[in-house]
Amino acid sequence: MTDRERVTDYNPVATASEKIHKRLPRRPSHSGRTPRNDSERYLFDLKWDDEQLFPEVLYPDADFLFRRMNEATLEMVDPHPNEVILDVGCGRAIDGVEFVRKGAVVIGLEPSLVMINHARNYISENGANISLVRGIGENLPFRARSVDKVVCKGALDHFPEPAVVIEQIAEILRPEGMAIIAIANFDSLGFMLARAIWRLRKIFGFKSPEGRMTWEIPEDHIYKFDYSSLKRLVGKYLKVEQVSGVSLLFGLPWWGIFLAKLPGNMSLFILRALDKVGRHLPRLSDIVIIKCTPK
Ligand SMILES: C[S@@+](CC[C@H](N)C(=O)[O-])C[C@H]1O[C@@H](n2cnc3c(N)ncnc32)[C@H](O)[C@@H]1O
Repeated sequence: MTDRERVTDYNPVATASEKIHKRLPRRPSHSGRTPRNDSERYLFDLKWDDEQLFPEVLYPDADFLFRRMNEATLEMVDPHPNEVILDVGCGRAIDGVEFVRKGAVVIGLEPSLVMINHARNYISENGANISLVRGIGENLPFRARSVDKVVCKGALDHFPEPAVVIEQIAEILRPEGMAIIAIANFDSLGFMLARAIWRLRKIFGFKSPEGRMTWEIPEDHIYKFDYSSLKRLVGKYLKVEQVSGVSLLFGLPWWGIFLAKLPGNMSLFILRALDKVGRHLPRLSDIVIIKCTPK
């Protein structure tokens, strides 16, 4: 470990989950999906690795989506010098490094040791200074009203208890603080059209492709979120100030292949134009970003 980063091996996750277990009544989740069993309910993947997510071929739509998601989150967070920003489920701390560049004091919280190691490398490669804390969003090791901003990007659907995480975020935010939550919209226009197209093809006797369809939640996700379920959940504990969308039509069959055949500047033009529309239509966009303040 270098002096640039501090990894606090915060309490073992097992004790944290015990605490949550005692506090929570057994009930179906806010998203309406009952966890398959109790062990799934309190499962924390301490070795989760994002290497499994990197596709063999990155089509222009996916590339654009990930870049815009990072950009749009950074714009909404709008980091200022010396403000304390906590990134819950920080992964490689890629966003954290951007916040540091703007002068913020950043803490990344992450349960997976594998991701903490990736984050350490990324932080030192970029000469940043970020405190990494090993822990879970369901039991945030911070004092009430002590953090200026909390960011949680692309992670809420990986959490066993997203409602508890939002409740915890609301607790640790300063009264004038702000939380920014970004998540994939599994009821996007792209996914709805994809579902309809494959259904139609099936009716006409075409075989469905093997494997997971784009609109189905991946194995490593616990919950499915969309615009309404995210807004409902966040609105229970925080005041929703702004909802914005990122990108449109991701997941449409053959969309990425089509864009890849176009000249680069033309596909970028189309993706940017769709993104502009998606910004104002978060219900249909590929990613939903919510900005909220304490109630
Ligand atoms: C898809 S990654 C997103 C990483 C990062 N926020 C980004 O946008 O690149 C989800 C992250 O959430 C973490 N995670 C899973 N369960 C968690 C929990 N209960 N509390 C905090 N983080 C969790 C995972 O280990 C993983 O690094």
